[in-house]
Amino acid sequence: MYRIESKINTQSESFKSQKLEFQKIMEEFRQKMASTIHGSSPSSIEKHKKRGKLLARERINLLIDPNTPFLELSTLAANGSYENQFPAAGIITGIGIIHSRETLVIANDATVKGGTYIKETIKKHVRAQEIAIENHLPCVYMVDSGGVFLPEQANVFPDRFDFGRFFYNQARMSSLGIPQIAIVMGSCTAGGAYVPAMSDETIIVKDQGTIFIGGPPLVKAATGEEVTAEELGGADVHTSISGVADHYAIDDRHALQICRNIFENLELRKKQQLETSPIEEPFYDPNELYGIAPIDLKKPVDAREIIARIVDGSRFHEFKARYAPTIVTGFANIMGYPIGIIANNGVLFSETALKGAHFVELCGKRNIPLLFLQNITGFIVGKEYERNGIARDGAKFVHAVANVNVPKFTVVFGGSFGAGNYAMAGRAYDPRFLFMWPNAKISVMGGEQAAGVLIQVKQDQLAAEGKSMQMEEIEKLRENILQKYNHEGSAYYSTSRLWDDGIIDPVDTRKVIAMGIAISLNKPYEETKYGIFRM
Ligand code: COA
Repeated sequence: MYRIESKINTQSESFKSQKLEFQKIMEEFRQKMASTIHGSSPSSIEKHKKRGKLLARERINLLIDPNTPFLELSTLAANGSYENQFPAAGIITGIGIIHSRETLVIANDATVKGGTYIKETIKKHVRAQEIAIENHLPCVYMVDSGGVFLPEQANVFPDRFDFGRFFYNQARMSSLGIPQIAIVMGSCTAGGAYVPAMSDETIIVKDQGTIFIGGPPLVKAATGEEVTAEELGGADVHTSISGVADHYAIDDRHALQICRNIFENLELRKKQQLETSPIEEPFYDPNELYGIAPIDLKKPVDAREIIARIVDGSRFHEFKARYAPTIVTGFANIMGYPIGIIANNGVLFSETALKGAHFVELCGKRNIPLLFLQNITGFIVGKEYERNGIARDGAKFVHAVANVNVPKFTVVFGGSFGAGNYAMAGRAYDPRFLFMWPNAKISVMGGEQAAGVLIQVKQDQLAAEGKSMQMEEIEKLRENILQKYNHEGSAYYSTSRLWDDGIIDPVDTRKVIAMGIAISLNKPYEETKYGIFRM
């Protein structure tokens, strides 16, 4: 494969000033991450530790193999909502390695409102289970939760993907042969009691873990019976009388060791094989991404400059390099794994969509995972393009992306607007993982375009009534819409609502995608079946 020849002058003033500007974006990102990771109140941490418990992230560190990475997902969930009282939405999810097996970990953080569930906590838990299903990953639940955050019950209890979905998923995962282990390290009340009860094996910690359908206050109210939490559903009761739990641990560390021991006896399954190459660092320094990643989305960025700083040796075998230049397609390796890359390089035209669809077919047939690098304003508009059938050609691309059965990974490195988001494997297209860079923006269209459309609609309405708008009114409307789109289009707004799996440092992109590919190998790729491509 040829090495990409970068045309960026890293000594130029424009590169240096953009890099400085990006440092501010990175500072904001790091500050938000740090304040989330250390977001619980000192008093709740002290109370937790006084009980002899480890913090959720400490538990994860001891659970996974030493010196191995943990791919934490959606750390900034619920950020900017609920007056920031739910750092990380009170739950840590991610993928780590236990006895050399990629494992999905779901850990309640009891220092955040007793580990109770708001809407975003539920979304994170369900999304993590989805990842376990799609990639056939064993699952460890570290339970330490008071269940539903009661003031929010209408947003967390009744709907299809609400609290009840956890146990439905557990049953389905079990039927698929996905091992599930629960470690009860604290409260596990009401519906939450089903997490350990539906796992393959359950560990419970002495004097800390409790499992019951109704806690002591509820029992007293219902029957008048007076009982302590320990008598009702403590470790002793469940490992010696009820049999709801299988292993008795004397403390958190012991419980984590038992869990690791369980992993020694899990079935080893056949993995998807890929033709790998020796790992090579990119020829161009990934740190240069800070000087290249688009901040002002109006300025075009050659996608090859991004690819050169993500792939092994900056080598890229480009496909159809001379055709439909607003999309860049080609093959490369990331940390030794083969990957097909589709990256935006401008607006999507008919021929762009055809090139994209063709390339997706190639990857599907060759069992090569796909990486979508999004920086897309949308499909081209106008009479000429509609007459040439842009909708039909765009549909081919969407069809190919929706049905291809190799794992898809999506990284939004610039803008993600309109139907371009769909064709480029947006969230609705089930990429195995979707990450945003902190500079990225996502909305149905850009703020200025939305303002233009809404002002036009308003003016047409008024004109029909024989009225018109004053200049100041138009400007006020434009300003309001711009502000709204600016706020709602930010990567932080997106990640807070789990429209993605997290915001990542651009420099980490290659590491994160390599982990994603490694994770995807746990489930052999299925054959792709397409429906009808409209010709
Ligand atoms: N809904 C809303 N808030 C809850 C809650 C719930 N289910 N459970 C706990 N909280 C809040 C508390 O009000 C407190 O908030 P604050 O920090 O603003 O004061 C915070 O979470 C911590 O609770 P606290 O009781 O002080 O902590 P703890 O570690 O001693 O106990 C629990 C934690 C979860 C064991 C205990 O609070 C409890 O039993 N909660 C009720 C559980 C329940 O019955 N759930 C049924 C849901 S279906």
